[in-house]
Amino acid sequence: MYNVEEVRKDFPILFQQIEGKRNTFLDTAASAQKPQCVVDRMIKVMTEQYANVHRGSYYLSEHLTFAYEQARKVVQRFLNAASSGEIVFTRNATESINLVAASWGRKNLKPGDEVLISEAEHHANLVTWQVLRDELGFKLKVFKIADDGSFIWNDFLGLLNKKTKLVAVTGMSNVLGTVFPVKKIAEAAHRQGALVLIDACQLAVHGNLDVQDMDCDFLAFSGHKTYGPTGIGVLYAKYDILEKMPPYQLGGEMVDTVTYEKTTFDVPPARFEAGTPAIVEAVGLGTALEYMMTLGQENIIRHEQQLTLYATEELQKIPGLKLIGTAAEKGGVLSFVVDGMHPQDMAFILGKEGVAIRTGHHCAEPLVRRMGYESVARASLGLYSNEEDIDMLVKAINKAKTFF
Ligand code: ALA
Repeated sequence: MYNVEEVRKDFPILFQQIEGKRNTFLDTAASAQKPQCVVDRMIKVMTEQYANVHRGSYYLSEHLTFAYEQARKVVQRFLNAASSGEIVFTRNATESINLVAASWGRKNLKPGDEVLISEAEHHANLVTWQVLRDELGFKLKVFKIADDGSFIWNDFLGLLNKKTKLVAVTGMSNVLGTVFPVKKIAEAAHRQGALVLIDACQLAVHGNLDVQDMDCDFLAFSGHKTYGPTGIGVLYAKYDILEKMPPYQLGGEMVDTVTYEKTTFDVPPARFEAGTPAIVEAVGLGTALEYMMTLGQENIIRHEQQLTLYATEELQKIPGLKLIGTAAEKGGVLSFVVDGMHPQDMAFILGKEGVAIRTGHHCAEPLVRRMGYESVARASLGLYSNEEDIDMLVKAINKAKTFF
């Protein structure tokens, strides 16, 4: 049984008063809070175990190199990747997508080719392809989603064809919560010879990832959203694809041999990790993912789905509140607007009540506009969220309404 009250004890920040009020943290989709075990692990590395990795033949360096590579193996297990060589540490999901664009994209995309994305993409998976399109001259196509935020097969299939070289889609929208059928998307894309990139920033938090089962070619996620530190992210790519990709950044530790005339490069993943990596953060991410796997992703998903249902019911009781994104397949992200209140004003009042939500376009400006708004409020759940968080949110929204 998943006992959320016990889980909450792992997150001391949740028991800290905010503006003299209970800390009602509902902004996990932006960045998650960290369990004590992650903090402890990182402190231990910095106080007792620190040295550079892959560069020293002395005790501290060898041991931390082992821990760094163990963290890569934890990510492999978290994703069920075929080998840890398919796991590249980056700065965040944005950098992972930029890496694919700069390396695989520049090598493989040309005029006449098409890249297919959805209306529900975060800027990281939209702007990156737009700018590359302007440079290389391929076509960037955008398939529609339904008004309730659902994935629409016909629209996707209608734009997918033999010219499509890459389908780059979110696994779960950070605004609507919609979970895309990534396995079936990959099947359809592969039938046309296209590769598939999944932006799994939210799916990694709220779903159960299995890259071999979904058969994606690339997958990106950020450590800070999966209860780990900032400054560390992951790019998963199938090894045979990664092997053919040129380096993304150049420098130390990503080379094989260097002369004044010529350089040959190391094999992946080292080829894509130029310079000293985020060592402490990578180890911290490993601990965070271990923590999630120990709680059990199925348990986390079940808990969040029950809470999403509860939140949906409670929010809908508020007169004048409209939920944005009500697809049947959705995770713990609840965007909404309330008649007569600008989301930013509402969020300010909620903040004074200790309730943390995000407002704006959520780095998905065209999507929010497509849904008919310039700005929406968003409450997002984590594995530590409970019914009291939702009750406090509802209470604070009702209080905010009295100001307008
Ligand atoms: N992409 C993050 C969010 O949705 C920051 O808030």
